[in-house]
Amino acid sequence: MNASLHIVILAAGKGTRMYSKLPKVLHQIGGLPLVQHVINTAQSLEPASIQVVIGHGKEQVQAQIQSNVSWVVQDQQLGTGHAVKCALPNLPKDGKTLILYGDVPLTDAETLQQLLLQAGNEVGLLTDILDNPQGLGRIIRNEQGICAIVEEKDATAEQKAIREINTGILVLPNSHLEQWLSTLQNSNAQGEYYLTDVIALAVADGMTVHGMTVRESHLAAGINNKLQLAQIERIYQLNQARALMTAGVTMRDPNRFDLRGSLSHGQDCVFDVGVVVEGACVLGDDVHIGAHCVLNNVTIGSGCQIAPFSHLSDCVVGTDARIGPFARLRPNAHLGNDVHIGNFVEVKNTTIGNGSKVNHLTYIGDASIGTESNIGAGSITCNYDGVNKFKTVIGDHVRIGSGTMMVAPVTIGDKATTGAGSVITKDCPAGQLTIGRARQVSIDKWQRPEKDSK
Ligand code: UD1
Ligand code: CA
Repeated sequence: MNASLHIVILAAGKGTRMYSKLPKVLHQIGGLPLVQHVINTAQSLEPASIQVVIGHGKEQVQAQIQSNVSWVVQDQQLGTGHAVKCALPNLPKDGKTLILYGDVPLTDAETLQQLLLQAGNEVGLLTDILDNPQGLGRIIRNEQGICAIVEEKDATAEQKAIREINTGILVLPNSHLEQWLSTLQNSNAQGEYYLTDVIALAVADGMTVHGMTVRESHLAAGINNKLQLAQIERIYQLNQARALMTAGVTMRDPNRFDLRGSLSHGQDCVFDVGVVVEGACVLGDDVHIGAHCVLNNVTIGSGCQIAPFSHLSDCVVGTDARIGPFARLRPNAHLGNDVHIGNFVEVKNTTIGNGSKVNHLTYIGDASIGTESNIGAGSITCNYDGVNKFKTVIGDHVRIGSGTMMVAPVTIGDKATTGAGSVITKDCPAGQLTIGRARQVSIDKWQRPEKDSK
């Protein structure tokens, strides 16, 4: 633990330019709320405390974030300086405080460690140099170095030409914090208590402000609107794709890959374009994921081929299985090895044994299927009477004829066969052919309806 480090995360703003019911810091990057990214990075620095200043949508923010942080409520958003002041009562008089922002999600621990190192016991300020600095606070320097920050709305034409900007991220010595924050005035263009004014106060107290320029702009980029949200998402996703490729994963196009969770993988896994991975997914070796598949919380064994447009959620697939195209594996599907699931097949809450096949247009729910069985095209386990769910048990080496309706609860014995189009309402004995359908009749001299000819 870093006993002298305290972190305050500002997250009280509304995010007017998001035009959303959701507080800004709950919008997501990579499937995680913006502020969650900031909290995770803050936690990785092992500080003595983390305070998150909330205001707009505070109940929603608290409900969505499960992390162990202290919440500080800022009822009125009177400015960034006022926001830090709200956290002051919980800060000790010694040590240092790092200020982070709930809408700046991609800052990495490395950058923050360097800033802390450079600041020492004085002030550290993370800056950036932008071609278009519009809207941001400008860094004012004199012969001694950084001496002030001026907000765009308060800047002269000359100051507006400065391209070095305030990212907002800074580290301050607690010994001076209370005095500086209580000195802040709101006599500026926005009528706010600017945290940025502490820079000039620090310099006036003879303290050096150590500026550090961020190595890549996205590390300090704030999100104010949906355009920036999408831009940061792409940067985040490309970084994840790069890390996976570096670890041996083949990506047909790293620009068309989305990971919103965690992915662990063996050797020689391949992702075709447009795959979305959510939750915690685990892949063995040689797993091929076809174009436009969605995987959510799945474990897939080595050698599996998932053909395009398949959707797998909360399920487990053994080795060498072939799934899809257009397959849907729903929660609690447990597939063995060498299982084939074909197009327009839905499997839910079902165990399927090694070598069994369900290849076409079928619904299997609340069932168990043994090994080496084949379910014919268009078959359905009728598992639901509108109130209760019932189980279908299918043995080993079973042949279910095409279009068989298995009205659960029903058991089909090993090596049983059902006739095509059967409605199975009673158990089928092992080894026998069971047919449950009206016998075919042909009607002679039947009169087909004809249109009137006028
Ligand atoms: C701030 C900086 C500016 C910097 C820019 C970087 C100030 C005065 N200006 O400007 O120099 O270039 O960030 O993005 O600090 N917040 C609160 N409570 C408040 C006000 C703000 O929690 O009362 C939070 C917001 O939710 C937001 C962050 O602080 O996450 C920044 O506030 P914002 O109003 O967006 O500041 P900027 O005008 O962007
Ligand atoms: Ca901002």
